[in-house]
Amino acid sequence: MVRFPAGKEIDMSATLIVGGQWGDEGKAKIVDFLMKDHDVVIRYQGGANAGHTVVTSQGRFAFHLIPSGVLYPHVKGVLGNGMVIDPFAFIDELHEIISMGIDVEDRIFISSSAQVVMPYHKLLDNLYESELKEKKIGSTGKGIGPAYTDKYSRRGLRFSCFLLDKDELFEEVKGRVEFTNRILSLFNTPPLSPEKIASEVVGIRDLISHFVVDTYELICSFREQKKRILLEGAQGTLLDIDHGTYPYVTSSNCTVGGALTGSGLVPSDITRAIGVFKSYVTRVGNGPFPTELKGEEGNVLRERGNEYGTTTGRPRRCGWFDLVAAKYSVMVNGLTEIALTKFDVLADYPTVKICKAYRLGDRILDRFPQNSIVLDKCEPVYEELPGWKMKELDVSSFESLPESAKNYLLRIEKELGVRISFISTGPEREKTIIRS
Ligand code: IMP
Repeated sequence: MVRFPAGKEIDMSATLIVGGQWGDEGKAKIVDFLMKDHDVVIRYQGGANAGHTVVTSQGRFAFHLIPSGVLYPHVKGVLGNGMVIDPFAFIDELHEIISMGIDVEDRIFISSSAQVVMPYHKLLDNLYESELKEKKIGSTGKGIGPAYTDKYSRRGLRFSCFLLDKDELFEEVKGRVEFTNRILSLFNTPPLSPEKIASEVVGIRDLISHFVVDTYELICSFREQKKRILLEGAQGTLLDIDHGTYPYVTSSNCTVGGALTGSGLVPSDITRAIGVFKSYVTRVGNGPFPTELKGEEGNVLRERGNEYGTTTGRPRRCGWFDLVAAKYSVMVNGLTEIALTKFDVLADYPTVKICKAYRLGDRILDRFPQNSIVLDKCEPVYEELPGWKMKELDVSSFESLPESAKNYLLRIEKELGVRISFISTGPEREKTIIRS
């Protein structure tokens, strides 16, 4: 079911990596794994709300803004126009990866059209959350929602502002802070100092401007050189602002449409669309989650999977694999392949469950309801399958897996109608089973 290639000759091929659930599916490991066969990685949405962890022989890397694929020295990493980027957090992350021995010179680029996340966005994020009281979204507090609000109300600052001269940049920032102070006064919150924030932003201008590029130019050059691109999504399909469980979502398009608008690529560039799914489901923040395991069962799965947020350290809500939601992700993104992660975490359960439908009152639903109020009322209808042992997972091929493990995977594959190409059985690069 390859959907994207038109009948034309492909100059540049792109692989999309998209989260199939509510984020934290282990996308960074799959990106890292595929990166050796690609030349460029582009992050297309979100910001420092993401936390992408990769474990290599050089150590453990936790990325928030910089595309995780840059661990390979031949790879160029682009922070795409669809992102909202905190420039101070970018500098911190840059220093961190440099200190771990990663060369960044001429390898990391920020789109001049990406939006700047300002300190006041984080303040507003927390203020808006506290106003929601018991209906809080559970935001990471990284200023993502307010930064996208400014983008769409055309008040935002693009990274091209770092190409202005220092006085112009100072005035641009100062004006934004003065405007924000008028909003803060509505919340009886003390004003911020426009001069202080403007000076701080001017203070990092020279460092940031070094990375800012016109990504249209860059993509034209990638096209001419027939580069192989990997599009790295953050968060996941069910957190997408349009297709997710609104309002309990992030503020960007994590799905395939966002990959195009947020990078500048065109549909026919995408030759593979790989959805990354955990072998069970997790969610941080609030909102409906039909297969959530509450109480002790949930605690056990959380501890087995070490399910605590990379960005905030918050405990993640955990539950069984949800086929109804997964089918929705396949449809919404036109997935051509699936990567299933953390398969080892399900080992040693005597039996494992898969949710094959929802019960809503006296109705059985096999399609995912887009309405969160309806979804919240859905109860899972489970199928129970025999489990497998941890020691049986230390294999390099699908064929060598125990029958019960193969059965679980084939059951998911059959329902979704998409091949599971990768099965991850541990954080290390080598703990990945590839199906040809
Ligand atoms: P925000 O993106 O920080 O505004 O948070 C909105 C919702 O998305 C909250 O429920 C967050 O927990 C969730 N979220 C944001 N980023 C991630 C992520 O990288 N992984 C998982 N959940 C996330």
